[in-house]
Amino acid sequence: MKIAVLTSGGDAPGMNAAIRAVVRASLHYGFEVYGVLDGYKGLLEDRMILLNHDAVSGLLTKGGTFLGTARLPEFKDEAVREVACKNLKERGIEALIVIGGDGSYRGALALGKLGIKCIGIPGTIDNDIVGTDFTIGFNTALTTIVDAIDKLRDTSTSHQRCSIVEVMGRRSGDLALYAGICGGAEFIITPENPINKKKIIERMKEFKETNRRHAIIVVTENQFNVHELAKEITEASGFASRATVLGYIQRGGQPVPEDRILGSRMGSYAVDLLSQNIYGCCVGIRDSRMIHLPFVNVLDQERPKNDLYPLLDKIS
Ligand code: F6P
Repeated sequence: MKIAVLTSGGDAPGMNAAIRAVVRASLHYGFEVYGVLDGYKGLLEDRMILLNHDAVSGLLTKGGTFLGTARLPEFKDEAVREVACKNLKERGIEALIVIGGDGSYRGALALGKLGIKCIGIPGTIDNDIVGTDFTIGFNTALTTIVDAIDKLRDTSTSHQRCSIVEVMGRRSGDLALYAGICGGAEFIITPENPINKKKIIERMKEFKETNRRHAIIVVTENQFNVHELAKEITEASGFASRATVLGYIQRGGQPVPEDRILGSRMGSYAVDLLSQNIYGCCVGIRDSRMIHLPFVNVLDQERPKNDLYPLLDKIS
């Protein structure tokens, strides 16, 4: 069998471990494996390279994705997908492993309808995919954020300030939630746990009166302007506040061991599935075990609210 692998959407540390595992497991089964450059864009432009054992050596320690990635909104267009499908078929490639987020899964589901055997692997720092406890990249991004919060706490303490930290996550609050718990945040504001400004201001007034040295507030991106919030808190409570937007550094860096292992397990499992002629599904990890679910059971489903939220009232 001939298989192709691509990474799509926002890059995530550990994607390289997943590609490496796809290649090595494919060779183990005697499959031929191609890497598609720059995600669905490369598929459309027929840019693919044959990969062997050595082509994926030395990748485990590297952040990003060595195949490159892209966002391609045009892939929603049926005619565009047909060209991609034709490119695969002309090379005799029957199966495609897509490493990315839910947008990438949608592309895979659509290619499946055109006769390509597709498997999805969840690669995104956001941890926002239904059907998996963790996505590849989440733990590395979390480590980067916790390191940043620890540093911000030092300077906040010196200056007696409140530090508001904006993190990525798109529609998912997991990065803010986990990082806030690790960093001892006073408040964690996420799409699942919206802001209560009155409560924050009251608490900061209290901090001011009791001469507390620092406070940390972690916020998921896209909810409001954190610089304006900092100004408002400063003016209303008297406790000086500053905002920091962490931005794209959260997506880079050496993958932590959890992401190297997760990428390796998921990449290998995806090929195991193809070897058993199972496709049209995505891989996940649940209670430390590899699982797979049909794309349709994962896309457009709501993720249950994280079990960690009740902890916040007790320990924040
Ligand atoms: O999906 C991963 C992610 O990093 C989100 O957290 C963020 O909202 C988005 O990608 C940013 O996307 P782009 O790289 O297209 O600016």
